This record gives sequence, C-alpha cells and structure tokens, in this order.
Amino acid sequence: MSVLIKRGRIVTAADSYVGDVFIDNGTIAQIGESLDMTADKVIDATGKYVIPGAIDPHTHIELPFGGTVTCDDFTSGTVAAAFGGTTSLIDFCFQMPGQTFPEALETWHEKIERCKPVIDVGFHMAITDLKEGGSLEDLAKVPDEGVTSYKLFMAYKGAVMVDDETLFKTMEVAAETGALVMVHAENGDAIDILVKRALAEGKTEPIWHARTRPPETEGEATNRAIQLARVAGAPLYVVHVSCKEAIEPIALAREKGWDIWGETCTQYLFIDESYLDQPNFEGGKYVYTPPPRPKENQEHLWKALGADVLSVFSTDHCPFNWPEQKGLGKDDFSKIPNGGPGIENRLHMLHHFGVREGRISLNRFVELTSTNVAKLFGLYPRKGTIAPGSDADVVVWDPEKPLTISAKTHHSNVNYNLFEGTEVVGAPEVVLVRGQVIVENDELVAQPGAGQFLTRARVGDELASAARAIA
Ligand code: URP
Ligand code: ZN
Ligand code: ZN
Repeated sequence: MSVLIKRGRIVTAADSYVGDVFIDNGTIAQIGESLDMTADKVIDATGKYVIPGAIDPHTHIELPFGGTVTCDDFTSGTVAAAFGGTTSLIDFCFQMPGQTFPEALETWHEKIERCKPVIDVGFHMAITDLKEGGSLEDLAKVPDEGVTSYKLFMAYKGAVMVDDETLFKTMEVAAETGALVMVHAENGDAIDILVKRALAEGKTEPIWHARTRPPETEGEATNRAIQLARVAGAPLYVVHVSCKEAIEPIALAREKGWDIWGETCTQYLFIDESYLDQPNFEGGKYVYTPPPRPKENQEHLWKALGADVLSVFSTDHCPFNWPEQKGLGKDDFSKIPNGGPGIENRLHMLHHFGVREGRISLNRFVELTSTNVAKLFGLYPRKGTIAPGSDADVVVWDPEKPLTISAKTHHSNVNYNLFEGTEVVGAPEVVLVRGQVIVENDELVAQPGAGQFLTRARVGDELASAARAIA
C-alpha cells in the first residue's frame, strides 16, 4: 500500500516547509517539493499541516484502580486516541499485589490480545512491590521485553505507594539496565495524615482532595526523587507535574545538566482547584492526582513548557464514569477513584490555546506531543518525526477545523469530558499509523488490530544524548 500526501505544510520539531510525502509499505519513503509518483491513495493536504503522529506516554487503560476499573479498553481507548491525532501510546502495566513482573506483563499482553488496539501500544512497568512478587533479577530483565521504563508511585499509601528503599533500589537497577525511571511524585505519608485528619473532622467533599494534597507535598517528593536519582546514577522522568513547587526543582536540575525530565498534562493547564468545589458531587469529576491546583499555577506550567523545563505534554487518561464509578466516594472524597479522562483532546487543546493563542510555536507543539516522547522512550527516529525511513505515523491536521469538545461526540467509553463545551479550532483530517489510514473525515476506517505492540529501545546512554538534544 502506498500513499502520497500532496502539498501539505510538513512540520517537525525542527522544520516547517511545504512539500509532498510518499509512503510505501508503512514507512516514509521519500519527501520532496513536488513528487511525481503514482500511489494507491493520494491525499490533498493543501492548507493543512502534515505532522508526526502524537505519542501519549501516560495512559491507564482497563486499569483496576480505586476499587473499580477504568472504563476504556484497548479498543475504545485507542480509537479515542486516534480521533485526536495520537498514533502510539505507552500504558502502565501494573504489577498487582504478589505478582511477578513476567506475570504482570502477561496480564497486560492479554488485554491487548482481547481488545485489539487501532494504534501502536507500548508498556511501562509500574512497580508496586520488590518484596513479595517482584524481584530485582526479574526487574532487570523487563527491558528485554521492550519495556524500557520503570514507574513508581511515591503516593497512594496502602495501595500502590512504594517506600524510598524500593524507589532507590529500582533506580540502581535502572542505572544498570538503561531503563528510564518515572515517578508519581507526592509525599504519600504526609498526605495520608492530612486525609485522615480531614475525614475525622467530617470534611468529606471533593474539594478536600486538593486541600489534603498541598503543592508542597509534590515539591518535596519531586526534589527527593531527583536527589535519589542522582545518587543512584539513574535518569528520571517526573510525571504529571502540576504546580510551581514541583517545577522549581526540575528547573534547577535541568539547569545543572542532570538527566531529569518532566511532563504535564492537559488538565493542569485548564482546570483549577475551584472545579472541585461544586455542588451535587459535580466536583467528583475533577478528582485526579495530583489535584487541580490554584489557577496561578497554569501560567507557571505554560512557561515551563515553553522553556523546556517540562519536555512532554501527555494526558494521564484514567477514565471513570460519573456518577457510577466516581460515586464510590460520594460521602468520602478519599474513596473517589482518582483519575480523569482526556486521551482524545490533548492536541485540540494544545493547538488551540498554545499555538493559535501564541504561547508556543508549531514546532514546539510537535516536539511536546511527539518528538520528545519518542526520544525519551526509546522510539526515535522510528517515531516522532517525518523523515525517510521513519514509520509513516502521520496526521494531516486541519488548522481551521472547528470543534466543540463534548462527551456527546467523543469516542472514549467515559460519559463526561473534562473540557465539555470548549470550542477549539484545529483537528485531524486524516490519521495514518504505519501508512494505514485509521481515521479520515471523522470516520474510523481501520479495524481493531491495526495497532501493534511497541518494543522500545533501551534508553541509557542513548537517552542521555537524545534527550540532552531536547533544547
Ligand atoms: O489520578 C490519577 N492520576 N490517576 C491515575 C494514576 C496516577 O496517579 O497517575
Ligand atoms: Zn500518578
Ligand atoms: Zn497516571
């Protein structure tokens, strides 16, 4: 199958020029000013951007969490991702209590076998225990399976939180294996005390989710993880950075040239603490962790994204229906399953409010949603760019296409949208994964199974050089 994309503005992290892209057998075969070849399919991209498919490195599909299971499977979740211009995602494979790492991987592979994805899917290994099921030997072998990042939670005490011993031992293994360590950075012990105290005082509403997780608890854990990673000699990636207190230690570490990176997610740029403080349990929709912060943090996050203090823009898509699932915590905020949906609208929101409103350049938009993700997670240059030899994961983006974001029209199984009613301009017209058209003119044209499991390269030294090039 060959595809010729004509006269689009080809945008990578570094370039922007008008030209043609010829795709053959799943990869980009040629790029030129005016290519004159026959193809099975020709796409006229005049007036459109031709960008590398976005990669979402932070999703929770069909995850048992908070007493329930996230409501997207790998079919619905990847269909929703594709409609938003995402052509690969990296989901967190969770080591469940007592499970070994090979068992955890088997469970996640079964999920993508049963509910086949339409886009490419990779895994991170989420480590919850190195004492019962998990061993250091098995942990060191995880990257052999193409799973080249370890994730640890410094919060959720009594559930998936690890202690500093587990965190540090994992970092030491990562320093050996060339895996990237990812942390959810919040001080889970301090939060646990604050939560118990609030509940004892009868404070049960969703707003207390934010009031018991102050920004300082995120700042402290971020700094602790950075310092421990330095001691272990491991590279570190801080997920879902939400506030100034966490941005500051990352900025300092990066200024020093340390191998530290951070991401933020769509919700932290647009939703603030006040959303939690709504009557009739409406606030329950916005219970995700870290919580929505006071509004002034949003400007700090935009600035950090622009200045490469934060290098990636992801979703942390973790969908629970409201009120059916979120209602588990109707009378106790600590029982509300933590997580918010967003897999489909990441590019819509960043393009409209970032690029169109002049906060970031078009190149930076591509870099934050695709190129840097590929570089940090062992996928570059196979993915993350438009270049001969790269996978033909391509989005033909119409910068003038209007869209009103709504749960009525989105493709996730979840029954609400964090950005309900937001009017944006700019959306995908055609989405291709390895040369196969997945979405065209708002229709799904691929079957489940079009996506493949992504084995990722070990990062290690390569990571340090590729990621240091993230200017
Ligand atoms: O609230 C969230 N973010 N739920 C998903 C798990 C996590 O912390 O990333
Ligand atoms: Zn987290
Ligand atoms: Zn998450």
